[in-house]
Amino acid sequence: MSPDTIAAIQSRALAEIAAASDAVALAAARIRYLGKQGEVTALGEAMRNISKEDRPAFGKLLNELRAGVTDALVSRESALEAARDEAALAAVDVTLPPVRPMRGSIHPLTQLLNRAVKIFRGMGFAMAEGPDIETEWHCFDALNTPADHPARNELDTFYLPDGRLLRSHTSTVQIRAMCEQAPPLRIIAPGAAYRRDETDATHLAQFTQMEGLCVAPGISLADLKGTLEFFFCELFGDDTETRFRPHFFPFTEPSVEVDFSCHICKGKGCRICKQSGWIEIMGAGMVDPRVYAKIGYPEDLYGYAFGMGVERIAMIKHGITDLRHLYTNDLRFLAQFA
Ligand code: PHE
Repeated sequence: MSPDTIAAIQSRALAEIAAASDAVALAAARIRYLGKQGEVTALGEAMRNISKEDRPAFGKLLNELRAGVTDALVSRESALEAARDEAALAAVDVTLPPVRPMRGSIHPLTQLLNRAVKIFRGMGFAMAEGPDIETEWHCFDALNTPADHPARNELDTFYLPDGRLLRSHTSTVQIRAMCEQAPPLRIIAPGAAYRRDETDATHLAQFTQMEGLCVAPGISLADLKGTLEFFFCELFGDDTETRFRPHFFPFTEPSVEVDFSCHICKGKGCRICKQSGWIEIMGAGMVDPRVYAKIGYPEDLYGYAFGMGVERIAMIKHGITDLRHLYTNDLRFLAQFA
């Protein structure tokens, strides 16, 4: 075992490592020299047979050999890696046009709701809310709806096993607000409502309503009309007219259904307004004193309430013919409102 043998192994190892053209060849070289049965390892074992005096010098040479081979392996590995990265980068054509990222937008229903809320807030209405899961008392009894009213039927309303229900309208928030706060109050409450309706182009089991309530001294039906007229003018244009037709709700007296003049044909008659010139849009009325009585308010108060279907307004505003488009998340539909 001479220093020449070590030098010969070293130069062969370094040449082989330098010639390794990929990771597989490099791994083979590592095993050949530094592996368990590698040549350098074998030299270490051969130390046993070397005389005591020669051992330190031999050991030093062997260490240098091991370090030299290890360094060569490491630097060859990083050279191969750099070459691989360079080749990968060369394959990228930086002059190609980029793939544009998809840009999200506000859902048309949310857009409309935001707009509606902004209009009412501008008139001094505050936001109020209540739970979707309600008691029968908040949904019906306090709203002067008798036990045999059809809306209370299990076929029309979703009841939970514990007797509570999914609110069938947002009028529950009238009650919540009045229980929490003494008059005067002026609130709007957008939110979900639930009915056992078959799903079709104009019905969904879950939809969105926006409730309004104003209780303050001297409030009359004229204030209700003025408020709604302003709302429709803001939403559909300054020349929009509002009309009240007598109706019935258990919790308002008198009750009205509210129409606004068709924004498409300006009252002349078209497909949207079914030739009538008017579009029916919501229920409203003066709060029935019986409701005040249920809450423990004085009964000589004056206030009005209204409730509108938000999907219906979005459909009318945008000429959407099927309500379900608003909930199927088809980007071809949604992108039109971006
Ligand atoms: N809650 C009624 C409905 O869902 C609408 C309404 C609200 C009517 C407020 C009058 C006053 O049909």
